[in-house]
Amino acid sequence: MEIAIIGTGYVGLVTGACLASFGHNVVCVDNDSTKIESLRSGEIPFYEPGLAELVDKGVRADNLTFTDSIQNGVSKASFIFICVGTPPKVDGRVDLSYVEQVAYQIGQNVSHNAYVITKSTVPIGTSRTVKKLVDKGVHDSGRDTVLVNVIVASNPEFLREGSAINDFLHPDRIVVGVDQLWAGDLIMELYKPIECPKLIMNPESSELTKYAANAFLATKISFINEIANVAEQNGADVREVARAIGLDRRIGNSFLKAGIGYGGSCFPKDVSALYQLAGEGGHDFRLLSSVIEVNNRQRERFVNKIRSVIGELGGKRIAVWGLAFKAGTDDIRESAAIDIVTKCFAEGADVIAYDPQASDNASQVFQGRIEFAGSALEAVNRADALLVLTEWPEFRAVDLDKVRETMHRAVVFDGRNLLADLDLFEKDFDYYGVGINY
Ligand code: UGA
Repeated sequence: MEIAIIGTGYVGLVTGACLASFGHNVVCVDNDSTKIESLRSGEIPFYEPGLAELVDKGVRADNLTFTDSIQNGVSKASFIFICVGTPPKVDGRVDLSYVEQVAYQIGQNVSHNAYVITKSTVPIGTSRTVKKLVDKGVHDSGRDTVLVNVIVASNPEFLREGSAINDFLHPDRIVVGVDQLWAGDLIMELYKPIECPKLIMNPESSELTKYAANAFLATKISFINEIANVAEQNGADVREVARAIGLDRRIGNSFLKAGIGYGGSCFPKDVSALYQLAGEGGHDFRLLSSVIEVNNRQRERFVNKIRSVIGELGGKRIAVWGLAFKAGTDDIRESAAIDIVTKCFAEGADVIAYDPQASDNASQVFQGRIEFAGSALEAVNRADALLVLTEWPEFRAVDLDKVRETMHRAVVFDGRNLLADLDLFEKDFDYYGVGINY
């Protein structure tokens, strides 16, 4: 089938490369011509395991191409996916300007019947807005909306950074929101090679499903973080508790890792957006305001813990392992690690950080206010404390004897409980995890 993907960010590029791997003809469109040039030469603008290879495969097979012209992109496509960014506004609501702009441009350029499918995370009702804007584009460019019939659908994406390809190819479900059942069936044909529950519903339910899924997962994380805080007061171990409750199939064992709270470009934005959306409709979604508050407080608690052990942070040398919002990515958007580092240097600490992938992105944020080390071991040199802020597996392989020898004071604050089972006490460290008592 002929597919156009508008927006070559995270979701767009993964979607394009995966759909091409099914044998569809996919053209990826982006108005950033420099980005299109680099994609053509095989450069992927962000770190995602397996994506470069999959893109390369599509390019070689000649069914994955790139263009900076929306006109060329949509000229043959029967299925046009909108995958552009929906960043948050300062008040927590969603900025839909890119989606709206693209919808109108699609209308201006499409000259045949087509499906316009929104993958970007958008507020409830956006499919209806997209439909109006596409039709306006068709009308404004002198064509008749009866002759150029565009069906609009919502098809939210549930992939995670770091495991995006696997999540796309092996999803728990595929959701399509569209008014006509037959159109839903046709869109599902694009995903024919994937075996999973395929749910067709109205666009509003589909749009809400995406927010509900992310908000529920964020709620799970804030819940287990609160349990961790209670565990610390009472001699319990949150890891044991999480394991035990997770074995109850009604609860499930995923997203129960306690730590410094959730970050990334999705959970913080989507939880706030759903809270705002409910508020605009006159409903105070209290649970979500607590989820957000608990998440912010978790970072403050972590810094308070450091201060209570090593004293005022001013003049202290703090080593940091991990800046990405989670392992497996170079993404630092809304990263709890970045927030904690910012709090530390605001109190006068000298921070020296190491991240295997995210240092370049972080150096742009910190602009020389913190130092970067070339390795985990180099970062801890003369440090008064080590903070583990991202759960990169390689940190578990660092020689702890060498770490202790090079540190000024061998104290570790592990915001991910990554090293919790490595018996740091036996190696003469003071070790503080989250929700763990020793
Ligand atoms: C999240 C969702 O998991 C995806 O299903 C969704 O498609 C995506 O958002 C999106 O809306 O695009 P992602 O942001 O890539 O994916 O990252 P997650 O793996 O969900 O982690 C989010 C945050 O929660 C990270 O900071 C992670 O460290 C934290 N987390 C996760 C915990 O603190 N504890 C856990 O048990 C799990």
